Amino acid sequence: MTNATGPARPDIAHPATFAAGVPHAEFARRRREEPVGWVEEPPLWRRAAGGRTAQRGTGYWAVTAHEDVLEVSRRPEVFSSAAKGAFLVDPRTDADLRQARELLVNMDAPQHLRIRRLVTSVFTPRAVRSLAESVAAHAAALAERAVRAPRFEVVADLASELPLLVLADLLGVDRRDRHLLYRWSNHLVGFDDPEYGGGDVEVYRATFGEAFAYALRLAARRRDDPAGDLVSLLANAEVDGRRLTDREFCNFWLLLVVAGNETTRHLISGALQALHDHPAERERLVSGAVPMASAVEELIRWVTPIMQFRRTAVRDTTLGGRPIRAGDKVVMYYASANRDPAVFDAPDALDLARDPNPHLAFGTGPHFCLGAHLARLELTALLTALGPNLARFEPLGPAVRLESNFVNGVKSMPARFAPPS
Ligand code: HEM
Repeated sequence: MTNATGPARPDIAHPATFAAGVPHAEFARRRREEPVGWVEEPPLWRRAAGGRTAQRGTGYWAVTAHEDVLEVSRRPEVFSSAAKGAFLVDPRTDADLRQARELLVNMDAPQHLRIRRLVTSVFTPRAVRSLAESVAAHAAALAERAVRAPRFEVVADLASELPLLVLADLLGVDRRDRHLLYRWSNHLVGFDDPEYGGGDVEVYRATFGEAFAYALRLAARRRDDPAGDLVSLLANAEVDGRRLTDREFCNFWLLLVVAGNETTRHLISGALQALHDHPAERERLVSGAVPMASAVEELIRWVTPIMQFRRTAVRDTTLGGRPIRAGDKVVMYYASANRDPAVFDAPDALDLARDPNPHLAFGTGPHFCLGAHLARLELTALLTALGPNLARFEPLGPAVRLESNFVNGVKSMPARFAPPS
């Protein structure tokens, strides 16, 4: 595509842009020419009871250099998560904003820490290590089934299944209900994708309603009869001398459902694709020439399943030499920071031995991902379970990518483990 001033640049604000892949060349240009650069937002179609409307965002500062993403994350008193939420799309109404602020990601101190503290114990490296056995068992069963099948669907049969099974155990969901978690997170995170939410506000609201009703039934059961699980902890936990309200409980539970499944799913499918595309690196992993821990970290950097999160400046400030006004939207592109040559040697090369690897795929600062250790554990378990079979992984068709400016995701990818020659 060209225009009067030369080739058109990929629109990093538009969900459809990412259906063709992450526009790394555009991010590289931005880091060089305008590391804090203004982006106009395109109108996005929304369907609601009143008909079809175009929603257009305010425009935003795209922050693409590693050091600036660090700075935004580490100055929450200036770059707020609560002012307008942590998502790129602006809340449509005050009521939507109030509702958004009930989610942990959309809170600022001191409320943020009070709520976050409730569950940090469940996600410490030690607590997560105690899940290792069950995660490994799920990974082994899934790997065995995929390796035996003449062909399988990477996302539905493998990449989505592991996080769903792990989450079902963690969140007190009957494993047979895990398809519900899959559908809810597709509709919420895949809101812009025509196959999932399709920009339909009513579908979005209905999904919340359905998920909350499910969560409330769970909470009621665990309040009557606590088990030693995360749901019992949340349902009975007290903040400032009072129990979480039903809404607070439901919001937390649903955040874990969405954050814990979609992200890890895309990490797994992206990692399998990356290893296939880099056979020499794959060989180093399979032969044990590189440590699993550094390989997992590099695959997380490479895929960067969540491409960005948003903040809002609450007072005038500067960033990367640019004046930022109070009220401005500021978007941190982890997908770009993780390929910044100022920090990573040969950032566009997959190097499974890379160490140190200060990637920002899990964010940093007070909102640092609660599930980072769990996500690492899941990918480690799956790669370990697949072992030498990894060398025979073969896509049988193109990956169909998600239309999303938020997650770097694949919806489907047919594949097989080729028979040993
Ligand atoms: C590869 C997988 C994952 C990636 C790339 C990822 C990425 C992120 C990022 C970038 C943030 C920061 C949000 C911000 O700064 O506004 C975050 C927060 C969060 N993540 Fe993850 N995540 C992953 C897996 C998980 C898992 C498995 C869980 C839970 C089971 C989880 C739960 C959360 C929660 C609850 C927060 C909010 C923390 C807060 O606001 O204090 N994540 N994640």
